[in-house]
Amino acid sequence: MTQGTGERLAIHGGTPVRSEPLLPGYPGGLLIGDAEKAAVMEVLESRSLFRHYGPRPLHKVSQFERAFAAAMGARHAVGVTSGTAALLTALAALGVGPGDEVIVPTYTWVATVNAVVHLGAVPVFVDIDDSLTMDPATLEAAITPCTRAILPVHMRGAGADMAPILEVAARHRLHVVEDAAQAVGGRYRGRRLGTLGAIGAYSLQYHKVITTGEGGMVVTDDPALWERAVRYHDQGSVRMEELDETIPVGNQLMIGINFRMSEITGAIGLVQLGRMDWIIERMRAHKTAILDGMRGLPGVTIRRVPDPDGDTGATLMFFLPTPDLARAFSAALTAEGIRATVAWDSGQHVYHHFDQIIERRMFAERHCAWECPYYRGCARLEKGMFPRTDDLLRRALHIDLHPLFSERDEFDIVRATRKVASALL
Ligand SMILES: Cc1ncc(COP(=O)(O)O)c(C=O)c1O
Repeated sequence: MTQGTGERLAIHGGTPVRSEPLLPGYPGGLLIGDAEKAAVMEVLESRSLFRHYGPRPLHKVSQFERAFAAAMGARHAVGVTSGTAALLTALAALGVGPGDEVIVPTYTWVATVNAVVHLGAVPVFVDIDDSLTMDPATLEAAITPCTRAILPVHMRGAGADMAPILEVAARHRLHVVEDAAQAVGGRYRGRRLGTLGAIGAYSLQYHKVITTGEGGMVVTDDPALWERAVRYHDQGSVRMEELDETIPVGNQLMIGINFRMSEITGAIGLVQLGRMDWIIERMRAHKTAILDGMRGLPGVTIRRVPDPDGDTGATLMFFLPTPDLARAFSAALTAEGIRATVAWDSGQHVYHHFDQIIERRMFAERHCAWECPYYRGCARLEKGMFPRTDDLLRRALHIDLHPLFSERDEFDIVRATRKVASALL
């Protein structure tokens, strides 16, 4: 790779590295093809779009659940309507409710926090570290008698450092719920993300590794949690025909909701699941090639990934020395034809931008989780209370990677990054 020294930046009127935009971050979405089309048509022709009955049910959701559980190495999976629904179902399965606290990282999509609050529980934030995921060292201080669960989030395609998180959770007898929405198929020390804690939640929304447009999955090895997840997502009921009858089902009465997955979603999900490992293999290969080309770039620090072998490769993230340089770098790279966003600017991914949570305005002013009569703690949340998070996210840039990138795309990312670095750093 040639160093771009001396080249005029596109942002200053120079020739951009490329004029065509890179493929956007829709890994599974842009691969939708004949197989998905045939799967949808098959369901439509059956006229049986509901998972539980119809003139000729194909049981696509049930097949997808079994295939997803097998792919993840979990005993059970429950298909739901979104990643948010998956989080709500996972938390409800654990019995999280009014008066409970759930520890969440300061950097996540707001859905993680919304799920906690919608169950009447209180999100307690902890800092992230240079992996841009929950810093395990901050957990101990956040635990109170009200803490019920720890909710690490596997951000931007890469897993949080699960070993120390699980160790703290075990010591305090807390549940771990994994938010694997952004890292479907990723791994940590050989195991799939989402299967290390008691229960895991995934999103199949369009921006995710594999997609059904909207959709989600819950996985667990625990039959009692599985039963509760099944009940919660289907109005408190368990429909026996969907269950593996070798597993004893109790009678855990609970109030549920409707997060049932449609057969069309199940059919698309089955096809996309078959693409998952190829998608991850390609994204990882692109990331490795790009990182090789960026190696040794002074002033550019690549995001630390706790288990690089388990990274899905969906995103390339790196830090600049200061927030001003990060902004300038992002603008210059984008002008070169490589869209790069400062993590801080991605809005509702950063606790600082969760105004509705900070002001404790949930559903209506009188129904705030923090005012719950059962809640005796004092969860404080203010902008600026996590200066390390603020600093990291103001200096972090991300670039989405796509499985269909060409060698030329890899080369252009490296060339543009080197060109901008040599001009700005
Ligand atoms: C970290 C995280 N958690 C949860 C969700 C919620 O998923 P969904 O959009 O499918 O409800 C998302 C997806 O946007 C996410 O990125």
